[in-house]
Amino acid sequence: MNQNLQSWLGRQIEDLKAQNLHKVPRILESPAGGRVRMNGKEVVNLSSNNYLGLANHPKVRQAALDAIERWGVGAGAVRWIGGTMSVHDELEQRLAKFKKVEAVLVFTSGFTANSGCIPAVLTDKDVVISDELNHASIIDGVRLSPARYKKSEGFVYGHKDMGHLEEILARTQDFEKRMIITDGVFSMDGDIAPLPRIVELAEKYDAFVMVDDAHASGVLGKNGAGTASHFDLYGRVDIQLGTLSKALGVVGGYIAGSALLKDWLINRGRPYLFSTAHPPMVAAALIAALDVMENDSEPMRRLWENADWWKRSLQEAGFDTMGSETPITPVFVGDEGAAQEMERRLWDEGVYALSIAYPTVARGKARIRTMPSAGHSREDLEFALGAFRRVRDAMATGAR
Ligand SMILES: Cc1ncc(COP(=O)(O)O)c(C=O)c1O
Repeated sequence: MNQNLQSWLGRQIEDLKAQNLHKVPRILESPAGGRVRMNGKEVVNLSSNNYLGLANHPKVRQAALDAIERWGVGAGAVRWIGGTMSVHDELEQRLAKFKKVEAVLVFTSGFTANSGCIPAVLTDKDVVISDELNHASIIDGVRLSPARYKKSEGFVYGHKDMGHLEEILARTQDFEKRMIITDGVFSMDGDIAPLPRIVELAEKYDAFVMVDDAHASGVLGKNGAGTASHFDLYGRVDIQLGTLSKALGVVGGYIAGSALLKDWLINRGRPYLFSTAHPPMVAAALIAALDVMENDSEPMRRLWENADWWKRSLQEAGFDTMGSETPITPVFVGDEGAAQEMERRLWDEGVYALSIAYPTVARGKARIRTMPSAGHSREDLEFALGAFRRVRDAMATGAR
């Protein structure tokens, strides 16, 4: 062990602890769901992206098992080198139909879909114009590109501030290409991007639009087809990213757009070119998950019923849910230490709801991020609400 490295690491960790920013993952000992076993304890889980309960759906499980029987457990190669099985191809065709686009290319995660697509479509003659609250995987994808993008250079607009976006578009006309990029549903705040206005401005100024629908996939639009569907903007959003890891319950990400875009990403999307394909059971499970989404509206109905009830109940109890419009429901705390303390006390009450702090959100904007799902019963949510009230009241009086 290199002592220099070890002592540097030790100092960094101590520093994180001193700032109440140090994370230690808890261990899930049961399938992901509304009520789980975690670190030896049964808790209501409000921190899962398994919005529709598909991660443990019997039809999805069975499809994965059948695929193992048929294909084995690994694809054996990178997609273009020989790792594309017919089940991968079928998934992409199904997704393209679902999204009403010409073509879809699947990556092994939403994160790699961003880091594969964004740099591939940009050159040093281009500029990226971003919402200030975009997800880390968008930011990292943008950083990998040779385009201009920095906030300090004036290319980042205030959150959902369309006046600011237009002002940037008006002064960047000399760039060869301009990409406007936004989360569809903002992952830490749960609000929805004003996509109709973004598309209008893009059309006016000849820019193109990429929307990251990680948290809109399975949640917004027809059968969960995302924000373009929600706003009826079919054919007007150039690049859509979806995840297969959240509402679809398995793992992966995809880029939906034109056939030319897919062809280009097969040739220039680095995580596609240099990383092994999904195991075939992943693709088969995802096809089954899509089948459920397209043919059974009940999980999405339950998701929204629970989300509406949860948000309304928190607001009535005096909590600040920060303008959330979707199942992602932040509960504002502010101070990082207080948010960590609230998370710890909720855990003691039998509720797992993670605190989110810097660098995931700005300093002083720490929150407990809650996510009701189709897998919660009303009793689960009532139980969690009681815990939130007790913890808040105890913290307000300084009781331990
Ligand atoms: C907005 C957004 N984009 C992309 C991702 C990455 O998706 P994945 O988990 O499939 O890598 C996430 C995951 O948290 C996200 O919230």
